[in-house]
Amino acid sequence: MKNLRIIVALFTLWLPFILTSSLSSCPKDCICDLDNSGRYYTACDRGNMEQIPINEMDKKMEIIIIRNPKHKLTIGHLFTDFKKLEILRITEANVPAIGEHSFWGVPSLRTLDLSRNNISQIFTDNFKGQQNLIELNLSYNIMERIPSGAFVYLKSLRTLSLAENFLEELVPRTFQQLAKLRYLDMSGNPFDDLTPDVFRDIMDLKTLKCRRCGLTKINPQLYHLLWQLTELDLGDNQFKYLEKDEFKDLKNLKRLNIDGNQLSVVVDNIFIRQKSLEYLDLSRNRLAKISDKAFVNLSNLTHLDISYNKLSDLALDYMCDLSKLRVLNISGNVQMSLFGIREVFENLTELDSLAIADITNLPSNIFKPLSKLKMLNISGTNLRNETNTILASLTMLKELDLSRNQLRGFDDELIQKLLKIESVKFDYNPFICDLCNMESILKRQSEMKWKYMPKCFQPQHLRGRPINRLRRDNLVHCFENFADETVDSAVTSYNFLQESRVNVLAIMGASIFVLLLLIIIVSISILTRQRAFYYTREDGKEEQDNEKCLEGSLITGTEINFKFPLDDRSIYTADEISLPPPPQASVNFHQINPEKGSSKKGFVKNS
Ligand SMILES: *[C@@H]1O[C@H](CO)[C@@H](O)[C@H](O)[C@H]1NC(C)=O
Ligand SMILES: *[C@@H]1O[C@H](CO)[C@@H](O)[C@H](O)[C@H]1NC(C)=O
Ligand SMILES: *[C@@H]1O[C@H](CO)[C@@H](O)[C@H](O)[C@H]1NC(C)=O
Ligand SMILES: *[C@@H]1O[C@H](CO)[C@@H](O)[C@H](O)[C@H]1NC(C)=O
Ligand SMILES: *[C@@H]1O[C@H](CO)[C@@H](O)[C@H](O)[C@H]1NC(C)=O
Ligand SMILES: *[C@@H]1O[C@H](CO)[C@@H](O)[C@H](O)[C@H]1NC(C)=O
Ligand SMILES: *[C@@H]1O[C@H](CO)[C@@H](O)[C@H](O)[C@H]1NC(C)=O
Ligand SMILES: *[C@@H]1O[C@H](CO)[C@@H](O)[C@H](O)[C@H]1NC(C)=O
Repeated sequence: MKNLRIIVALFTLWLPFILTSSLSSCPKDCICDLDNSGRYYTACDRGNMEQIPINEMDKKMEIIIIRNPKHKLTIGHLFTDFKKLEILRITEANVPAIGEHSFWGVPSLRTLDLSRNNISQIFTDNFKGQQNLIELNLSYNIMERIPSGAFVYLKSLRTLSLAENFLEELVPRTFQQLAKLRYLDMSGNPFDDLTPDVFRDIMDLKTLKCRRCGLTKINPQLYHLLWQLTELDLGDNQFKYLEKDEFKDLKNLKRLNIDGNQLSVVVDNIFIRQKSLEYLDLSRNRLAKISDKAFVNLSNLTHLDISYNKLSDLALDYMCDLSKLRVLNISGNVQMSLFGIREVFENLTELDSLAIADITNLPSNIFKPLSKLKMLNISGTNLRNETNTILASLTMLKELDLSRNQLRGFDDELIQKLLKIESVKFDYNPFICDLCNMESILKRQSEMKWKYMPKCFQPQHLRGRPINRLRRDNLVHCFENFADETVDSAVTSYNFLQESRVNVLAIMGASIFVLLLLIIIVSISILTRQRAFYYTREDGKEEQDNEKCLEGSLITGTEINFKFPLDDRSIYTADEISLPPPPQASVNFHQINPEKGSSKKGFVKNS
């Protein structure tokens, strides 16, 4: 052990000499060194170069990294002498174009990263001589089109990112000669539609990402061609529904993201061929219903995210097909009834991570069947003094999020329990730092090792003080002089100002609602005058019609309360017109969150 240390020390001592003796020069303001796998690299990221200091670089360089946000750099025929260059990254440098034959004579190049520049066009000749290139990153540029055959010289390419450009369509044979391509990221381009034919050249693709592509559907032919996909990411698009046999050709799928779309239902048997699926993200849709047989054959699924939808319950009928589930997120389904959920949990014997944030009224025995749970997120669940009981059976917890609740203090039992958990988050709780609430921690302050320490909210002069730094002589016995209402309103506005999350906003339903309705009415009336007339007069009817579309299911009423902070972009769109009229919304709101009435009053008074 000791010997080893001496050798390491000697080696570090000599390293600069070894380096300087074998590398003749390093440009000023750059760093030249060996990376973890022993390759020479130069990194210039101080951002003040007028041009790439190529002449001062050692020609043995294997990795060159240039990041230069201040000036505009041009690249041309610069790298011919670098016969060992494997990785070249020139990013955030306002590079306007790649240049003809720029990398000609550098056949060693494996990775070329030109992301975050100002490249508007690429040409076939840009990549001449790059038959060994494996990865090309052109994301965050300003390309509007890519010519046919642009990549024909890149016969070994496996990874290509065209994300965050301005591509509206792909011309035929865009991917000519890219038969080895496995990973394609096209996210953040306004395609609206993907033409299957273009993908004929890359039929061995394993990963396809097209988030934020404005897609409303996928041509089945595309799935048919790309049947080898193991990962498909269609998040943040505009899908309103999926065909019954949407994914029938994708038998190898392991990861599927359809989060952030507008789906309202998951129909029976839709994943029947996805026996290999391990990861499914359906969060941030408008799901009001999951059919009983929706998850049939998903026997290998380990990760399910259905958070921030409009589900009213979690049913055993479909959950019992997911016996291997380890991670489950049902947060933000604010109307979800949790009373039957225990039997679902009883079935999920492998579960070790559960997020159930932003749902109130947790039954006290809810987690009893989940004794193996390691990670639990119960932020924003309006917990107060029932925390002890709720956590009682969870003895294996390593991570717990209790943020945005109504915790005021700790008793012996609670603090004992929490001290056993490695990571606990307590942000935005109205902790009262007096002896009534904090007595039990005073003798255990040294045991608190959490990264995020709970902080006092009351009394005013201790606000923000971490509780491990409280001293007995600073604390009053029982901090009087406050009504529940004041604390509630204080913490409510405090929350809102610092972190605009779902539940908090829901609390203020009524006041914000009026504002929102105004904005919607104004924007709709700007869109079409007749429509505005129609909706303001016939709100009620429209709402009923929409309810029917959601497969005869529940909902509306409070839906707007939790939806709007999640997806700002969709607030003002025309299909948000299923908004209920304000008075009804606040009535429903009281039914769901009966205890919150006072805090809402407090807020209104406060503001
Ligand atoms: C990026 O390129 C466009 C034209 O292609 C030009 O108008 C713009 O000024 C460039 N931006 C920067 C920061 O160089
Ligand atoms: C491409 O570059 C972007 C921005 O620099 C980065 O976020 C992304 O991970 C890169 N993609 C690949 C496939 O390396
Ligand atoms: C799905 O599972 C059922 C049994 O639950 C089985 O009969 C059927 O063959 C499976 N379908 C596919 C496509 O694997
Ligand atoms: C399911 O997972 C197991 C273990 O990870 C794996 O061996 C098996 O091949 C998977 N089944 C399918 C159909 O992919
Ligand atoms: C749901 O919870 C999981 C596990 O805690 C987390 O990885 C995921 O990001 C969460 N989803 C959303 C939409 O917050
Ligand atoms: C899960 O539920 C199904 C159907 O109710 C039942 O047959 C099975 O035994 C349950 N599994 C566990 C582990 O409780
Ligand atoms: C818990 O859930 C909330 C709401 O979804 C989220 O903001 C927070 O980041 C989660 N906490 C952890 C530790 O993942
Ligand atoms: C929690 O507090 C309420 C009133 O503030 C009280 O009625 C109830 O008994 C308390 N519950 C526990 C478990 O201490």
